[in-house]
Amino acid sequence: MNTMLPRLAAVVLFACVAVPEAPALTLSEQTRALARQEFRKSARRPCIPAQPCFKVRNTYPKTATPETPAWRAIDFRREPERYLEAVLAYVVEGNVEADWVLSRNRKRGWYHAAWMHPMREPVRGLTFERGSRLHELSGQQTRRTNNWAIGFYNRTGATAFARVWRDRSEPATANFAFPEGTVSAKLLFTDATDEEAPYLKGNNLVWHADIHGNGELAALRLLQVDVAVKHEAGPTFNGWVFGTFHFDGRRGHADYWRNLAPVGLEWGTSPAFTHADFTAGRRPDQGWISPAAEAQFATRAPDGKLGYLGRMNGPVDDPRSSCLACHGRAMDMRGDPEPPLFPPLAASRIRQVTVAPNTTYERDMSAGPVDEADVARFFRNLAPGESWDGTHPTLDFSLQLMKGTQLWQAWLKTQLARPQERALAVAAPARDGASRGD
Ligand code: HEC
Repeated sequence: MNTMLPRLAAVVLFACVAVPEAPALTLSEQTRALARQEFRKSARRPCIPAQPCFKVRNTYPKTATPETPAWRAIDFRREPERYLEAVLAYVVEGNVEADWVLSRNRKRGWYHAAWMHPMREPVRGLTFERGSRLHELSGQQTRRTNNWAIGFYNRTGATAFARVWRDRSEPATANFAFPEGTVSAKLLFTDATDEEAPYLKGNNLVWHADIHGNGELAALRLLQVDVAVKHEAGPTFNGWVFGTFHFDGRRGHADYWRNLAPVGLEWGTSPAFTHADFTAGRRPDQGWISPAAEAQFATRAPDGKLGYLGRMNGPVDDPRSSCLACHGRAMDMRGDPEPPLFPPLAASRIRQVTVAPNTTYERDMSAGPVDEADVARFFRNLAPGESWDGTHPTLDFSLQLMKGTQLWQAWLKTQLARPQERALAVAAPARDGASRGD
């Protein structure tokens, strides 16, 4: 094991050196003042009278408070289910009573990711999620459902946001990393009916939200809860553990959150796991899936699996990926297009199904060899600090941070396109000593 250390250190060093720091932007004070104003916005539309009004919590603390959460003492590889239950208890504590209004949580501090307001509806702060395609939720589902979500970070994680947004007019993302002890969670809601997803029936959390953007609220129910926890990295482990739950009303508890059934846990992308392993009946080694969840989703489109070749993923997530594979792509794109989400169909050969008259996927691509080299690009275990493409600064698996920086970039671009602003932008001197890297 020890012989791995120097190699990993070299990788880390290489990754840090490989991504150059971006120079500070020359922006006018007017632009910066407007950016700070945007930073405080909560949603894409004004609040609706007589409805809850979502307020973003992005007054990030600079320091964490020491804590000894129960999940830290549990070996997630040996006792994944007990570990997941402990993380869920940590996430819901204080938030259930506060109805997920984070500022009202009396137990511990939670914060929202900044700069997602252009995507948030105004009642609950939900953002649009990947819709569930035909037969992904169950065999009776014949329509693409609307899925909406909201995520948050604990206080330890929020200290990393404090560093990125120390200057609220411009994010600083060089050498970004979350501290050990960071926990993030995400609640995913759906408008799927009992017929489309029978396990949703029961004591569930119902939220009404302005998902159509017309002020008329739609009822949504909790379908999935995601968690991500950062542990201390080890020689072959970058520290991240991702887990998920799905709502199962058959558990019959009066508290909705006790009706969340563990789906699984992933602590690596199982990079050595090939299509040949899969067809030989083996399972990805760096994750765990609950047998009950496996049975529940055994007929899920397109191939009866949650993630690619049986890797761990949520029922809402894209079956061509896995939690860590998709989140490893988190980078500050600085205005460049996002990297692809998963390998091309011709490379991964995931079984495709077509269910007329709606089609889930366009073609049956399952015949022919898998391009393992192409697939391997997506299922890598990144070292701490390593950037997915080696060019853009890593955002340490936070896709919300990636979205936030992208939305900020897009805003800035339209801002600078205004003729009077462009003139101001070039006229203003660079701030002394300021750099996006410090
Ligand atoms: C194909 C891509 C994809 C897959 C697979 C995926 N996610 Fe995400 N996830 C996203 C995106 C994009 C966001 C940011 C936007 C948002 O919050 O909706 C996100 C946000 C999150 C967040 C909020 C904090 C953050 O990191 O941005 C958590 C926690 C999370 N996901 C956990 C999971 C878990 C657990 C799994 C597997 C069960 C998973 N995700 C699978 C794309 C993915």
